[in-house]
Amino acid sequence: MKKIIAANWKLNKSPSQARTFFSSFTSAPSKEVTTVFFPSAVCLETVSVIAKEKQFQFGMQNVYFQGSGAYTGENSAAVLKELGGQFVLVGHSERRSLFGETDDLVQKKAQHIQSLGLTPMICIGETLEERENKKTYRVLESQIEIGLANLTSQVVIAYEPVWAIGTGRVATEEQVADAHQFIYEQLVKRGCQDTPILYGGSVKADNSKDLIQLPNVSGFLVGGASLEPQSFQSIIHSTISI
Ligand code: PGA
Repeated sequence: MKKIIAANWKLNKSPSQARTFFSSFTSAPSKEVTTVFFPSAVCLETVSVIAKEKQFQFGMQNVYFQGSGAYTGENSAAVLKELGGQFVLVGHSERRSLFGETDDLVQKKAQHIQSLGLTPMICIGETLEERENKKTYRVLESQIEIGLANLTSQVVIAYEPVWAIGTGRVATEEQVADAHQFIYEQLVKRGCQDTPILYGGSVKADNSKDLIQLPNVSGFLVGGASLEPQSFQSIIHSTISI
């Protein structure tokens, strides 16, 4: 399976800062890796122009489950499609914890995204409290169950343990392998065994080479380390030709 290495820029970078980033970013060989950028919505058009030239994919960090209408402040997947983007992050833990995004909303958004022929990248993951209370499997199973309900075509899962996001505390190889195995089994049960499963949470060039070799790890969703071209490129290159 082709690896997917995605950059989640969150609320960072203006259009001019995005241009500066790409002036020293060289795309990976696209036969081996699909590189995806998730800029903030205001940078989308800028990134869409550069994406054609540098041959990478891009997407939105969040959309509403309607394409247009009286929804002040929301973003449209239809606009992403017009710009040539393919992916949308859904249910990132920051959306869930800071903006009250529920499983129900995650499902509606994922369905809407698929109805436009785009690919939802559904983020799942347990909090530290849930892990310590041995609820990891239960949480993942229910997020998969709800997130994938009524989906018909292509989807990507990003496993991001909440306690590893932006904390510098990467999950151990054993924890990643174990969670990815569990997620894979859930996908097999639902006939979606070809779904890529990305890992996210403090991925850096010095841990990506080992993590990518674990079974059922199809790529990464990278936050902090995707903001500098060199560090993001090192992560991409560490996953090539293994
Ligand atoms: P991080 O963020 O790599 O900075 O931990 C990952 C994410 O939030 O997707």
